[in-house]
Amino acid sequence: MDFHIIRVARTVLNVTDLDRSRKFYIDALGFIETKSTDTHIYLRGLEEIHHHSLVLQKAQSPSVEVISYKVANDKDLNALEHLFSSKGLKTKWMDKGSQHAMGRALRTQDVSGLPIEFFHEMNQVERLLQRYDLYKGSRVQRIDHVNCAVPNVQKAHDFYCQELGFSCSEDTVDEDGMLWASWLHRKHSVHDQAFMNGVGPRLHHIGFWLPDPLALIHACDVLASLDYAQSIERGPGRHGLSNAFFLYLRDPDGHRIELYNGDYLTCDPDVGPLHWQLDDPRRQTFWGAKAPDCWFDEASDVLDIHTGEICQAEEPLLKKKKPEFII
Ligand SMILES: [Fe+2]
Repeated sequence: MDFHIIRVARTVLNVTDLDRSRKFYIDALGFIETKSTDTHIYLRGLEEIHHHSLVLQKAQSPSVEVISYKVANDKDLNALEHLFSSKGLKTKWMDKGSQHAMGRALRTQDVSGLPIEFFHEMNQVERLLQRYDLYKGSRVQRIDHVNCAVPNVQKAHDFYCQELGFSCSEDTVDEDGMLWASWLHRKHSVHDQAFMNGVGPRLHHIGFWLPDPLALIHACDVLASLDYAQSIERGPGRHGLSNAFFLYLRDPDGHRIELYNGDYLTCDPDVGPLHWQLDDPRRQTFWGAKAPDCWFDEASDVLDIHTGEICQAEEPLLKKKKPEFII
């Protein structure tokens, strides 16, 4: 491959009320505010040296503008533009300076219709890892992954593995052997990008890494103290798949955030994917508790990179045979 994707690095969320979002993300969850304007809030975790990993952008309705990946070199962007164009997929250049604190970037609509962006350059700021005096709320450390619902997981999986150089750490197959979900990584964790069979393209959630499981429990207490108990959608619990400790939250606009800790190293290239069966209840929750219906049914709409309109979501290729187990 003529390019090197490093990791998922940020997401741009459209939100309807910046003050309301600020209370949730900064006051309750403890994100670090790098910069704010009348229209944007740029957030990062305590460990992060890059300017931001989450952008909250004022808009009329909630949606996802783009999911961004960092690449190793600026020239990688040209190679990626060539790849996506050769596949007949839309591309769009974002000039240096057109996005705050960032160099030029390449946007594309991937094979599932997800708005994806690649960039190399982002301003660096102070890493606050040892500023323990600033640890608040869930003590968010860094962005870890995104999880998207797509109508054809096999198609998305094949494109990311064969064309973009991702590796699969774990997957789920149904009783017919069809790929139901796939966990793909560039960095050496379980995933940067997960795909699940569902109405899509939509963003199911953004996962942020916490320092330890106790930070996750403390986050529940802080959320409840600030009257956000109803924002807790699922968990805390432990996934069978990935082994991670998890808590799923819904932000004031309905975007889903996962607080996440405790997966494992995936740096050995000779270790193949761990396969799960769709009807194995330990896969989604190791302790057996079921997820609520809204966790399966609801996700954030994504936008067309050219028109800014919501991408039309399609029904999934695979149909549920056992609706209680559908991660
Ligand atoms: Fe996740």
